Amino acid sequence: MSLPNRVAVIGGGTMGNGIAQVFATCGAETVLCDVSQAAADKGVAAIQKSLDRFVQKEKLSAADRDATLARLTTSTDVAAAVANVDLMVEAVFEDVDVKRSIFRAADGAAPAHAILASNTSSISITTLGAATKRPSQVIGMHFMNPVPLMKLVEIIRGQDSSDATTATVVEASKALGKIPVEAQDYPGFISNRVLMPMINEAAFCLMEGVSTREGIDEIMKLGMNHPMGPLTLADFIGLDVCVNILDVLKDGLGDDKYRACPLLRRMVAAGHLGRKTGRGFYEYS
Ligand code: CAA
Repeated sequence: MSLPNRVAVIGGGTMGNGIAQVFATCGAETVLCDVSQAAADKGVAAIQKSLDRFVQKEKLSAADRDATLARLTTSTDVAAAVANVDLMVEAVFEDVDVKRSIFRAADGAAPAHAILASNTSSISITTLGAATKRPSQVIGMHFMNPVPLMKLVEIIRGQDSSDATTATVVEASKALGKIPVEAQDYPGFISNRVLMPMINEAAFCLMEGVSTREGIDEIMKLGMNHPMGPLTLADFIGLDVCVNILDVLKDGLGDDKYRACPLLRRMVAAGHLGRKTGRGFYEYS
């Protein structure tokens, strides 16, 4: 299998709908599953909007957009969604118990050959594999936001992920036009273990008055050639997500150097979570 024929994406949020979009665009029959029809429909609407942007920029033909949408279906039941798939990619919020129950349900309903992948940014793939009777077919496929534009898929091998499973998801990622890079299953893998301390340090710099929000972001954009400054990026990711990942790094690696900046925690407590709430380090209308 290079591109799987049938894919189920569990979770229709930003990451889930982006993942469903790229699979459907590349030709896979794709089911987008969420807890309610309204949530699944919202995911499809986001896909439609993103595809329209590609059509406007003449990066996709209107016929290909329509064919992509025709390959997309929705579901509100994990067992039904995975019943005849080759690959599941779970992309629900970062709660280990919720993810475990999805993997358990998928394991009971998916065909024996199916691979069960998670888009988790920090939860142990080994833990998710242990919730199933097929840990050798459980693996991490960590896409980056915005999924239709970002090239990387971080492939995370759990303790028991097999070579065959790894090879299959590596090939599937390449078939999506992405570049897969492998990492082992340690807290935060590579992407967030390196990214989050930078974002955290930027928050400490702001808290200590080393510079303004604009100053910190400009220095990293102009000096390091980053497309977004760390505070803008934190707003883009979600400050609650950043704090959650920092907690996973601190607990999982047992090192206080990953402690979340008090300013980050205070902003989360105030509900200033970034773009999604209209306010984080910056204001959004
Ligand atoms: N679908 C289709 N098109 C999209 C899109 C989407 N979802 N999102 C953006 N675009 C398009 C825009 O319309 C725009 O098109 P034109 O240039 O043709 O007008 C283009 O992409 C660029 O967008 P913008 O002009 O708005 O802004 P930009 O040039 O700064 O690019 C960006 C946007 C690609 C997001 C860039 O800023 C970037 O690379 N930022 C860093 C992103 C990043 O670090 N992501 C990883 C986050 S961490 C993560 O995801 C994992 C985790 O576990 C936390």
